[in-house]
Amino acid sequence: MKERNGFSGKLGFILAAAGSSVGLGNIWRFPYLAAKYGGGLFVLIYIILVVTVGSTLMQTEVTLGRCGQRDVYNTYRKLDKRFSILGVMGIVIPFFIATYYSVVGGWVIKYLVEFAIGNSAQTTAPDYFNNYIATPVMPVVYHLIFLVLCMLVLLCGVKKGIERSNKIMMPALLILSIIISIKSVTLPGGLDGVKFYLIPDFSNFSFTSVLMAIGQVFYSLSLAMGIMVTYGSYMGKDIDIQHSTKMAELFDTSVAFLGGLMIVPAVFATSGGNSEAINAGPGLLFDTLPKVFEQVPFGGLFGALFFLLVLFAALTSMISLMEVVIAWLIDKFNMGRIKATLLVSAAVFVIGIPSSLGFGVWKNVTIFGRSIFDFIDFTANSVLMPLIAIATCIFVGYFWGVKNIFAEAELSAPFKHKKYYSLMVKIIVPICIAAVWITSVFNIG
Ligand code: PHE
Repeated sequence: MKERNGFSGKLGFILAAAGSSVGLGNIWRFPYLAAKYGGGLFVLIYIILVVTVGSTLMQTEVTLGRCGQRDVYNTYRKLDKRFSILGVMGIVIPFFIATYYSVVGGWVIKYLVEFAIGNSAQTTAPDYFNNYIATPVMPVVYHLIFLVLCMLVLLCGVKKGIERSNKIMMPALLILSIIISIKSVTLPGGLDGVKFYLIPDFSNFSFTSVLMAIGQVFYSLSLAMGIMVTYGSYMGKDIDIQHSTKMAELFDTSVAFLGGLMIVPAVFATSGGNSEAINAGPGLLFDTLPKVFEQVPFGGLFGALFFLLVLFAALTSMISLMEVVIAWLIDKFNMGRIKATLLVSAAVFVIGIPSSLGFGVWKNVTIFGRSIFDFIDFTANSVLMPLIAIATCIFVGYFWGVKNIFAEAELSAPFKHKKYYSLMVKIIVPICIAAVWITSVFNIG
């Protein structure tokens, strides 16, 4: 088989996997969940879940990919035809997520521009954000700009595009996160926010906290999306899988932790210690935070740096989503990279437009009671992703066999804790995911 033109080495893989994992979830979801579901206790449980449940699935996916040496669809097909459906979903879901992720990426660029040109004050006008996303043209233009940035990287290939861009953006993101965390923690009243974020709060901690943490672990590590399988296929056979996946997890968890340090103290300090002011999702990034920056010294500058950081986080995740589909077109249809990249970019652009218009002129269009944007998000992340994760565990645990995982991983380094891994993949991880799936789909808790 012809050698895949993949990552140049361990660092290339680690930073690309971290780039995919570190995304909007680290910034707009983790801090909110920690603030709401038990502070330090949530953070602790989250970390435990990353190193147990999350880590098991990440190793599994990367190993499958490296063994398959193909895109996610052809990997599952090659390993066991009966599980081809996993490969199909592994292409379809990232594609649909990419369509709306890009719309959000466009909003990030818009805010970065406003902050960079010193126009940040206008973003704090009442209902500015909702009014902006309801306009039909500009959000679509920014969606296109965001997509073109990703496209330019992807056109350059795995090593020269994906790897190189991650090697620049990920260290920059880490440095920016540290700078902004320091600023946030040292604001007058910031330390109270740190206490609120990190001191365990048993009264807000419940079984729901654990479920929320598990769901966040999967989303944050970009699991069950075909991404880690695809990136694993670009990994050299000499690279230690267990160690390099651990490093990517460490990177992702560190940025999530810093996300909390950036956001909780700043919101706390500027809202007079009101923890209710910390919200999740677009509202946090585009409504709450501009108001926070407005109140702090040099807020315009810090706001611009912050949105640059968010842009890096979003770009590297979006690149991984698109690469899954591009890899499939290249492997399945023998298509050239340029053609495949242009095709995927065009399709993501067109299909992303309704998600954007759903905030304005197409407001009344709903699917099962949800807006187009929410529907795609909910179906992909809450309904399908956990099912794929469970099926992957069943496939590896009961059909393909953990022996094959060990054999592939041991091409590079001895596999540590085999018994533990088997127990996790066969029993514990599927049970944990099933619990999350039931509660989120049936909206319990
Ligand atoms: N892991 C990314 C985050 O934390 C989100 C993401 C999920 C990106 C799935 C790609 C695929 O935001």
